[in-house]
Amino acid sequence: MTPYEQLLQNNDDWSREQIKQDPEFFSRLANVQHPEFLWIGCSDSRVPADKITGTQPGEIFVHRNIANMVVHTDLNLLAVLEYAVVHLKVEHVIVCGHYNCGGVKAAMTSHNFGIINKWIRNIKDVYRIHRSEIEIYMDETERLNKLVELNVREQVLNLAKTSIIQKAWKKNHRPMLHGWVYGLDDGRINPICKMSHEDHLDPLYEFDDLVKED
Ligand code: CO
Repeated sequence: MTPYEQLLQNNDDWSREQIKQDPEFFSRLANVQHPEFLWIGCSDSRVPADKITGTQPGEIFVHRNIANMVVHTDLNLLAVLEYAVVHLKVEHVIVCGHYNCGGVKAAMTSHNFGIINKWIRNIKDVYRIHRSEIEIYMDETERLNKLVELNVREQVLNLAKTSIIQKAWKKNHRPMLHGWVYGLDDGRINPICKMSHEDHLDPLYEFDDLVKED
């Protein structure tokens, strides 16, 4: 059996097992989803959102990219965020990074990664803004992991800077934003920060006229 055939075989086994345990499992989920969480995570294969949080199909809406970035020109992220917040009305938006992230590590070097440079330039900006907090560490891994944490904080702030979140916070639906970091070596999530509609954003980023189209 080839590796990809193995995936299909695993899927066959999984669906049979689900039905055996709960005959209504698929029919219940087939037409509707009510996830309470939006997960914005790293694409890294070692950080599967549902496995590490013990969530089941239907419980978590997922967007992943290199280094769990919230980039305001990323139409993919914006569409996912809008759909999750406005239509699915998720209660929590979680940005989950992970220690020893290859994307963050790449941003700390001067290597030319081709088209990937354009993406990780956003992480270089986080480094530049927080240079003094990072460079107090002499150890390379400690610097990397500090940047991983600071990057998660910045991405939570980037969420709060979107008109999508600002509009939601002005209405009754007020999702909480979370910044977490997952440890590849122990499988544990470290909660780094939280932000709600009661927290204050730098007024420079607050929009006064949210009725206008984005
Ligand atoms: Co990563």
